[in-house]
Amino acid sequence: MSTTVTRQLEPNAAPHTRTTSAARQRVFSGIQPSGNFHIGNLLGAINNWVAQQSLYDNVFCIVNLHALSLPTTRDSLRANTQDLANTLLACGLDPAESIIFVQSDVREHSELCWLLTSVTQFGELRRMTQFKDKSAGRDENVSAALFTYPVLQAADILLYDTNLVPVGDDQKQHVEITRDLATRFNARYGETFVLPEPDIKAAGARIMALDNPAKKMSKSDATPMSAIALTDPADDIRRKIKRAVTDSGSEVTAGPDKPALTNLLTIYSLFSGEPIPAVEATYAGKGYGAFKTDLAELIVDALAPIQIRLTELEADPGIAIAAMANGADRAREYAAAKMAIVRERIGLTLA
Ligand code: AMP
Ligand code: TRP
Repeated sequence: MSTTVTRQLEPNAAPHTRTTSAARQRVFSGIQPSGNFHIGNLLGAINNWVAQQSLYDNVFCIVNLHALSLPTTRDSLRANTQDLANTLLACGLDPAESIIFVQSDVREHSELCWLLTSVTQFGELRRMTQFKDKSAGRDENVSAALFTYPVLQAADILLYDTNLVPVGDDQKQHVEITRDLATRFNARYGETFVLPEPDIKAAGARIMALDNPAKKMSKSDATPMSAIALTDPADDIRRKIKRAVTDSGSEVTAGPDKPALTNLLTIYSLFSGEPIPAVEATYAGKGYGAFKTDLAELIVDALAPIQIRLTELEADPGIAIAAMANGADRAREYAAAKMAIVRERIGLTLA
């Protein structure tokens, strides 16, 4: 059986600000409203979404249902969702160019998730690295949502006939299981889903913790020194970079024996747009101190315009709320059309 399904969905009404073309690849990605958005999220995911925005048909989703897989509260979920909507707009996602919406506003995600659980094997979910990491030692007590998390992610992706999923390295396995579920569904019910490809960039896909280059920078890290948050004030950024772990030696060079410097050079390179060898050449013979001082200023300068925009959006939450409502309306058109096909294929419709 062929593994390609051609795009079956075109929106009934193309947004007037955008020219949709069947030839454009569909991009889908998601991010959890779990607070503490950091420069790893920016460099590994969001900046790539923004940079490629005009090239593709984009759908970006704030995955609030995924955030329910770990303990949270009503107030923090709502606050984190509003913050993330503001943040995505502040970082440059443009509702005129991309569909941006909140997952739970499009109920088809939950429905397709359930249907896909029927083609998901217990064993393949148990083997997911993220589940093993997040449930470590407590798998009797974690939520079943943490276990079925990748099925909901597969539903997100498959609803939109997605070709490309721009994510950081940690999500590769979830895109792979999405392909496996789509392949199994297509084999059982006929060609229905497009098989997506992960779009993982060579640089920045895995920004490491500043206090431990063996661990990825993470929203859930308890040590504040490990990550630079998008909203960190300039002095906190300077302090965190100053205290960031370095490697033995004093040369500002990247390499397998220098994980800490490789991470800092990657951050420098991505914020400045200069390739790592050029940065190494600039700091040859200058030592870690000078490099760190400049790196801190580079980050401060790069985040400043985003922080200014964020403050403006926070003062007027209605801007993001309206953008999300409009995004959900547009997303629902695709999702509802896809679900009609899926229901029919499975045998949920009579006559
Ligand atoms: P999350 O923070 O898990 O909601 O992830 C949101 C997006 O940021 C996903 O595409 C992740 O792969 C990406 N991401 C998260 N942490 C990092 C990191 N340390 N380095 C690069 N990308 C990351
Ligand atoms: N699991 C992703 C993360 O934690 C978030 C996510 C949910 C996602 N659904 C998605 C990413 C669909 C890409 C595509 O980062």
